[in-house]
Amino acid sequence: MQTVKVGLLGLGTVGGGTVDILTNTLPEIERRLGQKIEITIIAVRDLTRSRPVDTSGIILTDKPEEVVNHPDVDIVVELMGGTGLAKTLLETAIKNGKHIVTANKALIAEHGNALFSLAKEHNVIVNYEAAVAGGIPVIKAVREGLAANKIEWVAGIINGTGNYILTEMKKPGADFAKVLKVAQELGYAEADPTFDVEGIDAAHKLTILASIAFGIELQFNKVYTEGISKVTADDIRFAQQLGYEIKHLGVASRAENGYSLRVHPTLVPKDVLIANVNGVMNAVMAKGNHVGPTMYYGPGAGAGPTASSVVADIIDIIRWKNQPVADQVPALGFAADQLESAPV
Ligand code: NAP
Ligand code: HSE
Repeated sequence: MQTVKVGLLGLGTVGGGTVDILTNTLPEIERRLGQKIEITIIAVRDLTRSRPVDTSGIILTDKPEEVVNHPDVDIVVELMGGTGLAKTLLETAIKNGKHIVTANKALIAEHGNALFSLAKEHNVIVNYEAAVAGGIPVIKAVREGLAANKIEWVAGIINGTGNYILTEMKKPGADFAKVLKVAQELGYAEADPTFDVEGIDAAHKLTILASIAFGIELQFNKVYTEGISKVTADDIRFAQQLGYEIKHLGVASRAENGYSLRVHPTLVPKDVLIANVNGVMNAVMAKGNHVGPTMYYGPGAGAGPTASSVVADIIDIIRWKNQPVADQVPALGFAADQLESAPV
């Protein structure tokens, strides 16, 4: 059996989950693939920190460039976050011919256009399923599963931390700051949690969803962005008395001369399915002109669910990597020279 070698950038919540899966479920995964997977090297910031996963036999380094330049590494998995160093490292990895998996929605939403074209130039794959809605395979569902449709709109609850906070705040006496702290302890929140509570993380994800739904370039800076930081327990209670739940939604739809992309708290009638999506769960809806409305539900954050998507992306790369790029699914699902330039 051939062995595919993986290098990780980051061993935090998602990195730890990825090592856990590639340790404990490895025999099953290798049976699916008929190939072996080895984690060769992992970059962390602090080498002295104790890790909850078994890293024996894996090189640990605090020099992330060693991962992207490692001659044996076939796939670089970026789980460190941020759009500065992570971008530089992935550019180097791509130029070195490494395939990429990332969970970094900020990086894809803000720099995906350039990264995808660099990847195409170097004949490598960039997979990013974990970047939207954690453990729900929604990129695949919209990009591949609905490929026969003209998609009319996509919408949903796409930030687990925000939905967790809104759910917990329904309990008497709940305090926003304390609930956010718990979400951080559970590994749901971004390194900077203002990304969660101010809607930036949801805007990153909506940018990606809109691109794959409509075949438009990634345009994060055009998304109307409002978070949940101003929603109070009283707002939630009064909404409930009137028959509504407050949900933080991302909505991308076709507009008269282009597209409309917005994230904001929304009053949703209690009897609507999405009003009953609680805690860290996410739900993404997409309406295709043939299939009609569809909905995808599952855990939107956390180690196991997110790493589940990361490892599925690794498996896809191992299956596809010996095919020419032209035969694979384009990163945004539409041929690169066919993206629309309608205004957002
Ligand atoms: P995290 O727990 O903060 O882990 C980040 C990891 O990156 C840590 O291991 C850290 O090292 C390492 N790191 C950071 N800067 C580094 C540097 N300069 N050099 C080397 N290593 C560095 O973050 P996370 O929650 O796993 O999230 C990682 C990525 O996944 C982010 O892009 C996030 O948006 C995305 N994501 C997260 C979730 C989730 O539920 N958490 C879900 C979907 C997507 P140390 O451990 O030594 O500090
Ligand atoms: N902070 C993000 C969330 C992680 O809460 O949804 C998953 O993308």
